[in-house]
This record gives sequence, C-alpha cells and structure tokens, in this order.
Amino acid sequence: MTQTITVIRGDGIGPEIMDATLFILDKLGAGLQYEEADAGVAALEKHGDLMPKVTLDSIAKNKVALKSPLTTPVGGGFTSINVSLRRHFDLYANVRPVVSFPNTKSRYENIDMITVRENTEGAYISEGQEVSADGETAVSITRVTRKGSERVVRYAFELAKANGRKKVTAVHKANIIKSTSGLFLKVAREVAADYPEIEFQEMIVDNACMQLVMRPEQFDVVVTTNLFGDILSDLCAGLVGGLGLAPGANIGKDAAIFEAVHGTAPDIAGQGKANPVALLLAAVQMLEHLGQQDNAERLRKAIVATMDAKDSLTGDLGGTGSTMEFAKAIASRL
Ligand code: NAI
Ligand code: MG
Repeated sequence: MTQTITVIRGDGIGPEIMDATLFILDKLGAGLQYEEADAGVAALEKHGDLMPKVTLDSIAKNKVALKSPLTTPVGGGFTSINVSLRRHFDLYANVRPVVSFPNTKSRYENIDMITVRENTEGAYISEGQEVSADGETAVSITRVTRKGSERVVRYAFELAKANGRKKVTAVHKANIIKSTSGLFLKVAREVAADYPEIEFQEMIVDNACMQLVMRPEQFDVVVTTNLFGDILSDLCAGLVGGLGLAPGANIGKDAAIFEAVHGTAPDIAGQGKANPVALLLAAVQMLEHLGQQDNAERLRKAIVATMDAKDSLTGDLGGTGSTMEFAKAIASRL
C-alpha cells in the first residue's frame, strides 16, 4: 500500500538534505508518495506567504509531513512558521529521541532516551507579556491545563509501552512553581497510575540537568512542560554530539510533522556539505509513526553502520564526504 506524505523542502540546506533523504527512502522501498508543498522563504517568493494555505491543506489531507528547516525572516513582524504550524495543527507533543552514535564528539556511549515536551502551553503561550511604562517590571503568563498535561503525559506512557521502554520520568519544579508545575505533576501522577508496568519517576528540573550530564544512561522517556522541555531537549542533543544528529517529531491528534532539529545553516547552504542524518532520523521516526517498524530499524542500522565505518562522513562529523556521497554510503548498507 502506498502512503502519500507532504514534503517541504525548505530553505538553506533544506533542499540538499531532503534530496538525500528521499533518495534513501526510495532505496528503502518505503512505498511513499511525495506531495511537495512550499513553506518558508521559498513560499514567500512564490505565493507571497510563508505558510500558504495549499501547504496547510496538503498536511491536513495527508496527516503526515516531512519537513526541512525553514527561514522565518527577521523583522517584518512574521510569526515563527514552526510556532504557527504547531498552533494550526495543535501539535501537542514534541518528541525528540537521542541515541549514542559511533565516532561522534559525544562523551557518552550508552544514551538511548526520548524527551517528550509539551508543545502548546506553559510559558510559551505569548499572552500577558507586559513591561511596565517605566520599564522596571515585566510579567508574562504561564498557563498549564489538565487537558494539555494529560494528553502529553499519556503520549509519553503510550510511547514507552509501544517501544518496550521501562521508565517515564516527569520533570517539574512543583516545589517552587506550585500552581502550574504543581498541576502538571499532579496529572502526571494520575496518568502514571494507569501504567503500573512502567516505572514512574519524578525529578526536579535542576537535578534533572545535573543527572543528565553526570549519568544520562539512567534516563529512558522524559516528559515535561514546554519551557523545561525546550531546554532539556537541546541539552540532550548536545549529549550525543549536537544538532546534526537530532531529529524531532511534532505530534497532534490530526497531523504529525517530522523534522531535523537544526536550522537552515546558511553558512554552508548550497555547498553539498550538510549532514543529512538529522532529517534521516526524522524519517525513521516517521516510518515508526506509519507502522513501518522494520524499515525504520533497517534505516537506523544503516546510518549507524556507515558512521561506524567512517564512510563518506560529512565535515561536521570529521569526514570529507558530500551530503550525497554520505547518503549513498548509507543507502549501500540498507
Ligand atoms: P543552524 O542550526 O542553522 O546552524 C547552527 C550551526 O550548525 C551552523 O554552523 C551550521 O552550519 C551547523 N549545522 C546545522 N545543521 C547542520 C547540518 N545538517 N550539517 C552540518 N552542519 C549543520 O542554526 P542558526 O544559524 O541559529 O539558524 C539559521 C536559520 O535557521 C535561521 O533563519 C533560523 O530561523 C532557522 N531555523 C529553523 C528551524 C526550523 O525550521 N526547524 C530551527 C532552527 C533554526
Ligand atoms: Mg529550542
């Protein structure tokens, strides 16, 4: 059965890493059809809109999108495209797996964890952002809801269950931020009670930072609110060798968007130097989401084997390969 996905080639290095990724997905025989849709600066030039309606319609129809990084122009009052996509499709869970790869700059070897970040509320609602007339005092509103907390914590437990993972850690600051973080923790405890087979752990966010740096291999699935999740998930990417290896999924009830965590890398765009692995790992997440566990595993193994052999690695990984040479080396190991 073929499945149609929306493909957004994006800006900067976006088209290069997407070419490499689609080349490999075709070799994999994933049976995917691609509906290309524009977003970002590429779309602004063609349609006069950073996120044209045809693109939103395509994602709504196909329910799954693979997306390269996009440039949100600075100035001109544009809302971040990624933020507006999250809002439009109510993509409530930001899911970022990190796994140790061979021959990276990481200090650790046994990391295999997933952070699940609440993606729609908390400190990022951009409401009530006020600075007093004298410029001396600033306030902003943080809002946490039972509904928002419940669905993201449940997603984390379901993810753990589906992947044979053993533990979910809820990261919070309920001892100080008693209202919002307190509600999140209370709901996390309630949801955890529905999953007696999975260990539930609570950890205060500052301790979680220290534990992640000292003993990251103790973590399995981490679930947390928006702001903490933003920070912790980048910290976790750093633990395994940086943004070039970090994918992320934005999951909602009606749509899911898979992407690399890094940006458009304007400094190396158009030079064939970009590392395609982060987008490829996003494709692995997408294949898992589509129920293609075997293909996801084959692709992940081919990436690991290529990195282990140091075959045609791109410059950020210490090699001299081009984006497409690296992709071909991976494809040869599928
Ligand atoms: P960036 O991630 O684009 O680049 C940071 C550094 O990492 C650069 O030196 C870059 O060359 C390197 N790098 C990033 N991805 C790489 C890859 N795949 N292979 C090799 N090296 C790689 O972050 P920056 O410079 O802060 O942002 C540049 C643009 O990207 C901005 O316009 C920003 O808005 C956009 N952006 C878009 C995102 C998205 O659409 N999801 C996420 C983050 C940034
Ligand atoms: Mg971030």
